[in-house]
Amino acid sequence: MLFAEEELTRPRPAATIFYLSVLTRQASMTKDNTISPVKSDPSSTTKPWGGRFSESTDKFVEAFTASIHFDQRLYRHDIEGSRAHARMLGQTGILEAEDVIKIINGLDAIERQIEAGELEWQVALEDIHMNIEARLTETIGLAGKRLHTGRSRNDQIATDIRLWLREQIGGISHEIRRLQTALVELAEREAHTIMPGFTHLQVAQPITFGHHMLAWFEMLQRDHERLQDCLKRVNVLPLGAAALAGTTYPIDPAYTATLLGFARPARNSLDAVSDRDFAIEFNAAAALVMMHLSRFAEELIIWTSAQFDFVRLPDRFCTGSSIMPQKKNPDIPELIRGKTGRVYGHLIALLTLMKGQPLAYNKDNQEDKEPLFDTVDTLLGSLRAFADMMPHVQPKKERMRAAAIQGFSTATDLADYLVRKGLPFRDAHEVVGKAVALGVQSERDLSEMSLETLRSFSDVIEADVFASLTLEGSVAARHHPGGTAPEQVLQQVADARKLLQS
Ligand code: ARG
Repeated sequence: MLFAEEELTRPRPAATIFYLSVLTRQASMTKDNTISPVKSDPSSTTKPWGGRFSESTDKFVEAFTASIHFDQRLYRHDIEGSRAHARMLGQTGILEAEDVIKIINGLDAIERQIEAGELEWQVALEDIHMNIEARLTETIGLAGKRLHTGRSRNDQIATDIRLWLREQIGGISHEIRRLQTALVELAEREAHTIMPGFTHLQVAQPITFGHHMLAWFEMLQRDHERLQDCLKRVNVLPLGAAALAGTTYPIDPAYTATLLGFARPARNSLDAVSDRDFAIEFNAAAALVMMHLSRFAEELIIWTSAQFDFVRLPDRFCTGSSIMPQKKNPDIPELIRGKTGRVYGHLIALLTLMKGQPLAYNKDNQEDKEPLFDTVDTLLGSLRAFADMMPHVQPKKERMRAAAIQGFSTATDLADYLVRKGLPFRDAHEVVGKAVALGVQSERDLSEMSLETLRSFSDVIEADVFASLTLEGSVAARHHPGGTAPEQVLQQVADARKLLQS
Protein backbone atom coordinates (compact mmCIF):
# COMPACT_ATOMS: atom_id res chain seq x y z
CA MET A 1 0.00 0.00 0.00
CA LEU A 2 1.71 3.13 -1.12
CA PHE A 3 0.14 6.48 -0.27
CA ALA A 4 -3.43 5.33 -0.54
CA GLU A 5 -6.05 7.96 0.20
CA GLU A 6 -6.76 6.57 3.65
CA GLU A 7 -3.05 6.38 4.31
CA LEU A 8 -2.67 10.14 3.98
CA THR A 9 -4.99 10.70 6.93
CA ARG A 10 -3.50 7.95 9.10
CA PRO A 11 -0.36 8.43 11.23
CA ARG A 12 2.48 7.67 8.86
CA PRO A 13 5.54 5.49 9.33
CA ALA A 14 8.79 7.41 9.70
CA ALA A 15 9.94 6.55 6.20
CA THR A 16 6.83 8.03 4.64
CA ILE A 17 7.18 11.18 6.70
CA PHE A 18 10.75 11.44 5.49
CA TYR A 19 9.59 10.99 1.90
CA LEU A 20 6.93 13.66 2.25
CA SER A 21 9.34 16.06 3.89
CA VAL A 22 11.86 15.81 1.06
CA LEU A 23 9.14 16.62 -1.44
CA THR A 24 8.82 20.09 -0.04
CA ARG A 25 12.55 20.75 -0.20
CA GLN A 26 13.95 22.54 -3.21
CA ALA A 27 15.89 20.26 -5.53
CA SER A 28 17.87 21.54 -8.51
CA MET A 29 15.99 22.34 -11.72
CA THR A 30 15.26 19.33 -13.86
CA LYS A 31 15.71 20.15 -17.51
CA ASP A 32 15.81 17.62 -20.24
CA ASN A 33 19.54 17.14 -20.13
CA THR A 34 20.35 17.91 -16.53
CA ILE A 35 20.26 15.45 -13.74
CA SER A 36 18.71 16.19 -10.37
CA PRO A 37 19.97 14.65 -7.17
CA VAL A 38 18.40 11.35 -6.25
CA LYS A 39 17.42 10.56 -2.71
CA SER A 40 18.92 7.31 -1.70
CA ASP A 41 17.38 7.26 1.71
CA PRO A 42 17.55 4.30 4.05
CA SER A 43 13.78 4.01 3.99
CA SER A 44 12.02 0.75 3.47
CA THR A 45 9.63 2.40 0.99
CA THR A 46 7.09 -0.23 0.01
CA LYS A 47 7.54 -1.30 -3.58
CA PRO A 48 4.59 -1.03 -5.94
CA TRP A 49 5.45 -4.64 -6.86
CA GLY A 50 6.09 -5.71 -3.28
CA GLY A 51 3.02 -7.96 -2.81
CA ARG A 52 4.73 -11.32 -3.27
CA PHE A 53 7.93 -10.36 -1.42
CA SER A 54 8.57 -11.25 2.19
CA GLU A 55 11.65 -9.11 2.83
CA SER A 56 12.66 -5.66 1.67
CA THR A 57 15.19 -5.19 -1.12
CA ASP A 58 18.87 -5.26 -0.27
CA LYS A 59 20.09 -1.64 -0.28
CA PHE A 60 22.89 -2.24 -2.71
CA VAL A 61 20.60 -4.20 -5.03
CA GLU A 62 18.11 -1.38 -4.83
CA ALA A 63 20.70 1.16 -5.94
CA PHE A 64 22.23 -1.20 -8.50
CA THR A 65 18.96 -1.95 -10.24
CA ALA A 66 17.55 1.58 -10.09
CA SER A 67 17.48 3.75 -13.20
CA ILE A 68 16.01 6.96 -11.75
CA HIS A 69 19.37 8.75 -11.76
CA PHE A 70 19.30 8.70 -15.56
CA ASP A 71 15.75 7.95 -16.71
CA GLN A 72 14.47 11.05 -14.85
CA ARG A 73 15.20 12.98 -18.01
CA LEU A 74 12.23 11.16 -19.57
CA TYR A 75 9.78 12.73 -17.10
CA ARG A 76 7.93 14.90 -19.63
CA HIS A 77 7.48 12.01 -22.01
CA ASP A 78 6.47 9.64 -19.24
CA ILE A 79 3.80 12.10 -18.14
CA GLU A 80 2.68 12.75 -21.71
CA GLY A 81 2.30 9.00 -22.26
CA SER A 82 0.40 8.60 -18.99
CA ARG A 83 -1.99 11.42 -19.84
CA ALA A 84 -2.80 9.81 -23.19
CA HIS A 85 -3.16 6.38 -21.57
CA ALA A 86 -5.57 7.79 -18.98
CA ARG A 87 -7.65 9.51 -21.66
CA MET A 88 -7.83 6.25 -23.62
CA LEU A 89 -8.93 4.42 -20.45
CA GLY A 90 -11.67 7.03 -20.04
CA GLN A 91 -12.70 6.93 -23.70
CA THR A 92 -13.10 3.15 -23.64
CA GLY A 93 -15.00 3.20 -20.35
CA ILE A 94 -12.28 1.27 -18.53
CA LEU A 95 -11.92 4.16 -16.08
CA GLU A 96 -14.56 6.58 -14.79
CA ALA A 97 -14.38 10.08 -16.27
CA GLU A 98 -13.97 11.47 -12.76
CA ASP A 99 -10.82 9.41 -12.18
CA VAL A 100 -9.41 10.40 -15.55
CA ILE A 101 -9.81 14.08 -14.74
CA LYS A 102 -8.12 13.59 -11.38
CA ILE A 103 -5.25 11.71 -13.01
CA ILE A 104 -4.70 14.30 -15.70
CA ASN A 105 -4.81 17.21 -13.29
CA GLY A 106 -2.52 15.33 -10.93
CA LEU A 107 -0.02 14.62 -13.71
CA ASP A 108 -0.09 18.28 -14.79
CA ALA A 109 0.67 19.31 -11.22
CA ILE A 110 3.52 16.81 -10.95
CA GLU A 111 5.02 18.07 -14.20
CA ARG A 112 5.01 21.59 -12.79
CA GLN A 113 6.57 20.38 -9.53
CA ILE A 114 9.35 18.57 -11.38
CA GLU A 115 10.01 21.65 -13.47
CA ALA A 116 10.19 23.75 -10.33
CA GLY A 117 12.60 21.23 -8.81
CA GLU A 118 10.13 20.33 -6.10
CA LEU A 119 10.06 16.57 -6.54
CA GLU A 120 12.95 14.64 -5.13
CA TRP A 121 13.58 11.38 -6.91
CA GLN A 122 13.67 8.25 -4.79
CA VAL A 123 16.04 5.41 -5.51
CA ALA A 124 13.70 3.17 -3.55
CA LEU A 125 11.10 3.84 -6.24
CA GLU A 126 13.53 2.54 -8.85
CA ASP A 127 12.61 4.40 -12.01
CA ILE A 128 10.83 7.37 -13.50
CA HIS A 129 7.55 5.47 -13.89
CA MET A 130 7.23 4.45 -10.26
CA ASN A 131 8.49 7.78 -8.93
CA ILE A 132 5.79 9.61 -10.84
CA GLU A 133 3.06 7.07 -10.10
CA ALA A 134 3.84 7.13 -6.38
CA ARG A 135 3.70 10.90 -6.36
CA LEU A 136 0.43 10.82 -8.28
CA THR A 137 -1.18 8.43 -5.82
CA GLU A 138 0.09 10.50 -2.97
CA THR A 139 -1.44 13.60 -4.54
CA ILE A 140 -4.79 12.35 -5.81
CA GLY A 141 -5.34 9.14 -3.85
CA LEU A 142 -6.98 6.00 -5.22
CA ALA A 143 -7.42 7.28 -8.78
CA GLY A 144 -3.63 7.38 -9.03
CA LYS A 145 -3.48 3.66 -8.42
CA ARG A 146 -5.82 3.07 -11.36
CA LEU A 147 -3.55 4.70 -13.94
CA HIS A 148 -1.53 1.54 -14.45
CA THR A 149 -4.63 -0.41 -15.58
CA GLY A 150 -3.95 -2.22 -18.86
CA ARG A 151 -0.32 -1.23 -19.16
CA SER A 152 3.07 -2.30 -17.85
CA ARG A 153 6.34 -0.53 -17.32
CA ASN A 154 7.55 -2.56 -20.28
CA ASP A 155 5.31 -0.86 -22.82
CA GLN A 156 5.56 2.38 -20.85
CA ILE A 157 9.35 2.67 -21.12
CA ALA A 158 9.33 1.68 -24.79
CA THR A 159 6.81 4.47 -25.36
CA ASP A 160 8.78 7.01 -23.34
CA ILE A 161 11.99 6.40 -25.27
CA ARG A 162 10.20 6.66 -28.60
CA LEU A 163 8.51 9.92 -27.60
CA TRP A 164 11.80 11.30 -26.35
CA LEU A 165 13.83 10.17 -29.35
CA ARG A 166 11.26 11.54 -31.78
CA GLU A 167 11.67 14.96 -30.18
CA GLN A 168 15.46 14.69 -30.17
CA ILE A 169 15.53 13.76 -33.86
CA GLY A 170 13.59 16.99 -34.45
CA GLY A 171 16.26 19.00 -32.59
CA ILE A 172 19.12 17.23 -34.34
CA SER A 173 17.54 17.75 -37.76
CA HIS A 174 17.19 21.43 -36.97
CA GLU A 175 20.90 21.70 -36.15
CA ILE A 176 21.83 19.83 -39.33
CA ARG A 177 19.73 22.32 -41.31
CA ARG A 178 21.45 25.23 -39.56
CA LEU A 179 24.88 23.88 -40.48
CA GLN A 180 23.78 23.17 -44.06
CA THR A 181 22.48 26.74 -44.35
CA ALA A 182 25.84 28.11 -43.19
CA LEU A 183 27.60 25.95 -45.78
CA VAL A 184 25.33 27.10 -48.61
CA GLU A 185 25.94 30.72 -47.72
CA LEU A 186 29.68 30.17 -47.59
CA ALA A 187 29.52 28.33 -50.93
CA GLU A 188 27.70 31.21 -52.57
CA ARG A 189 30.13 33.77 -51.19
CA GLU A 190 33.15 31.71 -52.26
CA ALA A 191 31.85 30.25 -55.54
CA HIS A 192 34.80 31.81 -57.40
CA THR A 193 37.47 31.24 -54.73
CA ILE A 194 40.12 28.85 -55.94
CA MET A 195 41.79 26.25 -53.78
CA PRO A 196 43.68 23.07 -54.50
CA GLY A 197 41.58 19.93 -54.50
CA PHE A 198 43.34 16.91 -53.01
CA THR A 199 43.58 13.20 -53.55
CA HIS A 200 45.91 11.27 -51.21
CA LEU A 201 46.32 14.69 -49.52
CA GLN A 202 48.50 15.64 -52.51
CA VAL A 203 47.45 18.57 -54.66
CA ALA A 204 45.32 17.14 -57.45
CA GLN A 205 43.28 19.70 -59.41
CA PRO A 206 42.06 23.22 -58.72
CA ILE A 207 38.57 23.43 -57.30
CA THR A 208 36.46 26.21 -55.88
CA PHE A 209 36.06 26.66 -52.14
CA GLY A 210 32.30 26.85 -52.69
CA HIS A 211 32.39 23.46 -54.37
CA HIS A 212 34.22 22.01 -51.37
CA MET A 213 31.62 23.44 -48.95
CA LEU A 214 28.82 21.90 -51.01
CA ALA A 215 30.45 18.47 -50.75
CA TRP A 216 29.96 18.75 -46.98
CA PHE A 217 26.40 19.97 -47.61
CA GLU A 218 25.60 16.80 -49.56
CA MET A 219 26.89 14.51 -46.82
CA LEU A 220 24.72 16.32 -44.29
CA GLN A 221 21.76 16.11 -46.65
CA ARG A 222 22.03 12.32 -46.65
CA ASP A 223 22.39 12.40 -42.85
CA HIS A 224 19.22 14.45 -42.63
CA GLU A 225 17.34 12.07 -44.92
CA ARG A 226 18.57 9.06 -42.95
CA LEU A 227 17.23 10.53 -39.71
CA GLN A 228 13.87 11.34 -41.30
CA ASP A 229 13.68 7.76 -42.50
CA CYS A 230 14.62 6.42 -39.08
CA LEU A 231 11.85 8.58 -37.60
CA LYS A 232 9.24 6.51 -39.48
CA ARG A 233 10.23 3.45 -37.46
CA VAL A 234 10.60 5.37 -34.20
CA ASN A 235 7.12 6.82 -34.56
CA VAL A 236 5.17 3.66 -33.70
CA LEU A 237 3.30 3.22 -30.39
CA PRO A 238 4.22 0.27 -28.12
CA LEU A 239 1.62 1.16 -25.44
CA GLY A 240 -1.08 -1.50 -25.32
CA ALA A 241 1.44 -4.34 -25.44
CA ALA A 242 1.41 -4.25 -21.63
CA ALA A 243 3.99 -6.65 -20.15
CA LEU A 244 4.31 -8.72 -23.34
CA ALA A 245 1.07 -10.39 -24.37
CA GLY A 246 -1.37 -7.50 -24.49
CA THR A 247 -4.10 -6.90 -21.93
CA THR A 248 -7.51 -8.25 -20.99
CA TYR A 249 -9.09 -4.76 -20.98
CA PRO A 250 -10.87 -3.44 -24.07
CA ILE A 251 -8.16 -0.87 -24.82
CA ASP A 252 -7.96 1.30 -27.94
CA PRO A 253 -4.27 1.71 -28.86
CA ALA A 254 -5.16 3.47 -32.12
CA TYR A 255 -6.75 6.23 -30.05
CA THR A 256 -3.69 6.49 -27.79
CA ALA A 257 -1.50 6.61 -30.91
CA THR A 258 -3.53 9.51 -32.29
CA LEU A 259 -3.32 11.39 -29.00
CA LEU A 260 0.45 10.99 -28.92
CA GLY A 261 0.98 11.74 -32.62
CA PHE A 262 2.26 8.24 -33.44
CA ALA A 263 1.63 6.98 -36.97
CA ARG A 264 0.09 3.73 -35.67
CA PRO A 265 0.20 1.26 -32.78
CA ALA A 266 2.68 -1.62 -32.92
CA ARG A 267 1.35 -4.72 -34.68
CA ASN A 268 2.88 -7.27 -32.29
CA SER A 269 2.96 -6.89 -28.53
CA LEU A 270 6.09 -9.05 -27.98
CA ASP A 271 8.02 -7.06 -30.54
CA ALA A 272 6.70 -3.77 -29.16
CA VAL A 273 8.14 -4.26 -25.67
CA SER A 274 11.33 -6.05 -26.56
CA ASP A 275 13.13 -4.62 -29.56
CA ARG A 276 15.32 -1.57 -29.46
CA ASP A 277 16.30 -1.66 -33.13
CA PHE A 278 14.91 1.84 -33.59
CA ALA A 279 17.45 3.13 -31.06
CA ILE A 280 20.26 1.20 -32.75
CA GLU A 281 19.22 2.53 -36.13
CA PHE A 282 19.21 6.04 -34.75
CA ASN A 283 22.64 5.51 -33.20
CA ALA A 284 23.94 4.22 -36.54
CA ALA A 285 22.62 7.32 -38.28
CA ALA A 286 24.20 9.43 -35.52
CA ALA A 287 27.52 7.61 -35.97
CA LEU A 288 27.45 8.53 -39.66
CA VAL A 289 26.78 12.19 -38.88
CA MET A 290 29.68 12.16 -36.41
CA MET A 291 31.91 10.47 -39.00
CA HIS A 292 31.12 13.30 -41.40
CA LEU A 293 31.65 15.98 -38.76
CA SER A 294 34.93 14.34 -37.84
CA ARG A 295 36.10 14.52 -41.44
CA PHE A 296 35.14 18.21 -41.68
CA ALA A 297 36.89 18.76 -38.36
CA GLU A 298 40.02 17.06 -39.62
CA GLU A 299 40.09 19.30 -42.69
CA LEU A 300 39.67 22.43 -40.58
CA ILE A 301 42.50 21.28 -38.32
CA ILE A 302 44.77 20.73 -41.32
CA TRP A 303 43.68 23.98 -42.95
CA THR A 304 44.40 26.07 -39.86
CA SER A 305 47.92 24.65 -39.46
CA ALA A 306 50.76 27.06 -40.30
CA GLN A 307 51.81 24.77 -43.16
CA PHE A 308 48.44 24.99 -44.92
CA ASP A 309 47.05 28.23 -43.49
CA PHE A 310 43.97 28.06 -45.74
CA VAL A 311 41.38 29.41 -43.32
CA ARG A 312 41.10 31.58 -40.24
CA LEU A 313 38.91 30.47 -37.34
CA PRO A 314 37.51 33.20 -35.11
CA ASP A 315 39.36 33.54 -31.79
CA ARG A 316 36.24 32.81 -29.80
CA PHE A 317 36.16 29.26 -31.18
CA CYS A 318 39.80 28.56 -30.33
CA THR A 319 41.98 28.38 -27.24
CA GLY A 320 45.59 29.12 -26.46
CA SER A 321 48.40 27.21 -24.84
CA SER A 322 49.46 27.85 -21.26
CA ILE A 323 53.12 27.53 -22.21
CA MET A 324 53.43 28.47 -25.90
CA PRO A 325 52.28 32.07 -26.33
CA GLN A 326 52.00 31.82 -30.13
CA LYS A 327 49.48 28.99 -30.11
CA LYS A 328 45.89 29.25 -31.31
CA ASN A 329 44.44 25.77 -31.19
CA PRO A 330 41.40 24.55 -33.17
CA ASP A 331 39.84 22.95 -30.09
CA ILE A 332 36.29 22.68 -31.38
CA PRO A 333 37.14 20.62 -34.45
CA GLU A 334 39.58 18.54 -32.41
CA LEU A 335 37.00 17.83 -29.73
CA ILE A 336 34.37 16.89 -32.30
CA ARG A 337 36.83 14.54 -33.98
CA GLY A 338 37.54 13.05 -30.55
CA LYS A 339 33.89 12.74 -29.54
CA THR A 340 33.11 10.68 -32.62
CA GLY A 341 34.61 7.65 -30.87
CA ARG A 342 32.07 7.60 -28.07
CA VAL A 343 29.14 7.65 -30.49
CA TYR A 344 30.64 4.67 -32.36
CA GLY A 345 31.11 3.01 -28.96
CA HIS A 346 27.45 3.51 -28.05
CA LEU A 347 26.41 1.88 -31.32
CA ILE A 348 28.40 -1.22 -30.47
CA ALA A 349 27.08 -1.12 -26.90
CA LEU A 350 23.47 -1.10 -28.09
CA LEU A 351 24.01 -3.81 -30.70
CA THR A 352 25.68 -5.99 -28.09
CA LEU A 353 22.93 -5.22 -25.57
CA MET A 354 20.33 -6.74 -27.89
CA LYS A 355 22.15 -9.63 -29.49
CA GLY A 356 21.60 -12.26 -26.80
CA GLN A 357 18.14 -11.34 -25.55
CA PRO A 358 15.32 -13.85 -25.84
CA LEU A 359 11.86 -12.36 -26.31
CA ALA A 360 10.30 -10.36 -24.81
CA TYR A 361 11.35 -7.64 -22.32
CA ASN A 362 14.47 -8.22 -20.23
CA LYS A 363 16.00 -5.92 -17.65
CA ASP A 364 19.02 -5.69 -19.96
CA ASN A 365 16.98 -3.11 -21.86
CA GLN A 366 17.40 -0.64 -19.03
CA GLU A 367 20.97 -0.30 -20.31
CA ASP A 368 19.75 1.26 -23.56
CA LYS A 369 19.24 4.71 -22.09
CA GLU A 370 22.66 5.99 -21.11
CA PRO A 371 24.30 5.24 -24.48
CA LEU A 372 21.32 6.71 -26.30
CA PHE A 373 21.27 9.84 -24.15
CA ASP A 374 24.99 10.38 -24.55
CA THR A 375 24.79 9.87 -28.32
CA VAL A 376 22.10 12.53 -28.56
CA ASP A 377 23.97 14.97 -26.28
CA THR A 378 27.23 14.47 -28.15
CA LEU A 379 25.66 14.82 -31.56
CA LEU A 380 23.60 17.87 -30.65
CA GLY A 381 26.58 19.60 -29.08
CA SER A 382 28.88 18.83 -32.00
CA LEU A 383 26.36 20.02 -34.58
CA ARG A 384 25.65 23.15 -32.64
CA ALA A 385 29.34 24.01 -32.31
CA PHE A 386 29.87 23.46 -36.03
CA ALA A 387 26.78 25.43 -37.04
CA ASP A 388 27.82 28.35 -34.82
CA MET A 389 31.40 28.32 -36.11
CA MET A 390 31.02 27.86 -39.88
CA PRO A 391 29.54 31.28 -40.71
CA HIS A 392 32.72 32.83 -39.26
CA VAL A 393 35.30 30.68 -41.04
CA GLN A 394 37.31 32.95 -43.34
CA PRO A 395 39.08 31.41 -46.32
CA LYS A 396 42.55 32.85 -47.04
CA LYS A 397 42.27 33.19 -50.79
CA GLU A 398 45.88 34.06 -51.58
CA ARG A 399 47.25 31.14 -49.58
CA MET A 400 44.93 28.65 -51.26
CA ARG A 401 45.70 30.01 -54.70
CA ALA A 402 49.45 29.80 -54.10
CA ALA A 403 49.08 26.18 -52.93
CA ALA A 404 47.12 25.30 -56.07
CA ILE A 405 49.86 26.76 -58.29
CA GLN A 406 52.70 25.09 -56.39
CA GLY A 407 51.15 21.68 -56.81
CA PHE A 408 50.95 21.64 -60.66
CA SER A 409 47.22 21.34 -60.26
CA THR A 410 46.54 22.14 -63.94
CA ALA A 411 48.61 19.21 -65.24
CA THR A 412 45.44 17.25 -66.13
CA ASP A 413 44.21 20.31 -68.03
CA LEU A 414 47.35 20.23 -70.19
CA ALA A 415 46.78 16.53 -70.86
CA ASP A 416 43.13 17.22 -71.80
CA TYR A 417 44.36 20.02 -74.10
CA LEU A 418 46.70 17.57 -75.88
CA VAL A 419 43.85 15.07 -76.25
CA ARG A 420 41.75 17.81 -77.85
CA LYS A 421 44.66 18.34 -80.27
CA GLY A 422 44.55 14.66 -81.25
CA LEU A 423 46.93 12.83 -78.88
CA PRO A 424 45.72 9.62 -77.20
CA PHE A 425 45.27 10.25 -73.45
CA ARG A 426 48.07 7.87 -72.40
CA ASP A 427 50.59 9.67 -74.63
CA ALA A 428 49.35 13.03 -73.38
CA HIS A 429 49.84 11.82 -69.79
CA GLU A 430 53.45 10.92 -70.61
CA VAL A 431 54.15 14.30 -72.25
CA VAL A 432 52.75 16.24 -69.31
CA GLY A 433 54.68 14.07 -66.86
CA LYS A 434 57.90 15.19 -68.50
CA ALA A 435 56.84 18.85 -68.44
CA VAL A 436 56.02 18.56 -64.71
CA ALA A 437 59.45 16.99 -64.07
CA LEU A 438 61.05 20.06 -65.62
CA GLY A 439 58.77 22.29 -63.56
CA VAL A 440 59.81 20.55 -60.34
CA GLN A 441 63.46 20.82 -61.26
CA SER A 442 63.27 24.50 -62.30
CA GLU A 443 60.63 25.46 -59.68
CA ARG A 444 58.22 26.75 -62.32
CA ASP A 445 54.53 26.13 -62.80
CA LEU A 446 53.39 24.92 -66.23
CA SER A 447 51.73 28.29 -66.84
CA GLU A 448 55.06 30.02 -66.20
CA MET A 449 56.89 28.12 -68.97
CA SER A 450 57.37 29.73 -72.38
CA LEU A 451 55.51 28.45 -75.41
CA GLU A 452 58.83 27.33 -76.82
CA THR A 453 59.62 25.24 -73.74
CA LEU A 454 56.17 23.68 -73.79
CA ARG A 455 56.47 22.92 -77.53
CA SER A 456 59.70 21.05 -76.82
CA PHE A 457 57.47 18.39 -75.18
CA SER A 458 54.91 18.28 -77.99
CA ASP A 459 54.65 20.30 -81.18
CA VAL A 460 50.84 20.23 -81.15
CA ILE A 461 50.99 22.82 -78.37
CA GLU A 462 50.07 26.35 -79.51
CA ALA A 463 49.58 29.74 -77.89
CA ASP A 464 46.00 28.89 -76.89
CA VAL A 465 47.41 26.41 -74.34
CA PHE A 466 47.72 29.12 -71.68
CA ALA A 467 43.94 29.45 -71.36
CA SER A 468 43.92 25.83 -70.14
CA LEU A 469 46.83 26.28 -67.76
CA THR A 470 45.42 29.05 -65.60
CA LEU A 471 43.59 28.12 -62.42
CA GLU A 472 40.50 30.06 -63.53
CA GLY A 473 40.54 28.33 -66.92
CA SER A 474 40.89 24.95 -65.24
CA VAL A 475 37.88 25.32 -62.93
CA ALA A 476 35.74 27.05 -65.56
CA ALA A 477 36.32 24.10 -67.91
CA ARG A 478 34.61 21.68 -65.49
CA HIS A 479 31.28 23.06 -66.51
CA HIS A 480 28.74 20.29 -66.08
CA PRO A 481 26.27 19.46 -63.29
CA GLY A 482 28.25 18.49 -60.20
CA GLY A 483 31.46 20.09 -61.57
CA THR A 484 33.57 22.73 -59.87
CA ALA A 485 33.03 25.62 -62.33
CA PRO A 486 31.76 28.71 -60.46
CA GLU A 487 28.60 28.81 -62.61
CA GLN A 488 27.87 25.22 -61.64
CA VAL A 489 28.55 25.91 -57.98
CA LEU A 490 26.02 28.75 -58.08
CA GLN A 491 23.51 26.39 -59.68
CA GLN A 492 24.20 23.84 -56.92
CA VAL A 493 23.67 26.59 -54.35
CA ALA A 494 20.23 27.27 -55.83
CA ASP A 495 19.40 23.55 -55.79
CA ALA A 496 20.65 23.23 -52.21
CA ARG A 497 18.38 26.09 -51.11
CA LYS A 498 15.42 24.22 -52.57
CA LEU A 499 16.40 21.10 -50.62
CA LEU A 500 16.58 23.14 -47.43
CA GLN A 501 13.01 24.30 -47.96
CA SER A 502 11.64 20.82 -48.63
N1 ARG B 1 13.59 0.93 -15.87
C1 ARG B 1 13.10 -0.04 -16.77
C2 ARG B 1 13.80 0.10 -18.14
O1 ARG B 1 14.45 1.06 -18.32
C3 ARG B 1 11.63 0.13 -16.97
C4 ARG B 1 10.89 -1.13 -17.29
C5 ARG B 1 11.06 -2.09 -16.17
N2 ARG B 1 10.21 -3.22 -16.28
C6 ARG B 1 10.36 -4.24 -15.46
N3 ARG B 1 9.53 -5.18 -15.55
N4 ARG B 1 11.36 -4.31 -14.63
O2 ARG B 1 13.72 -0.73 -19.00
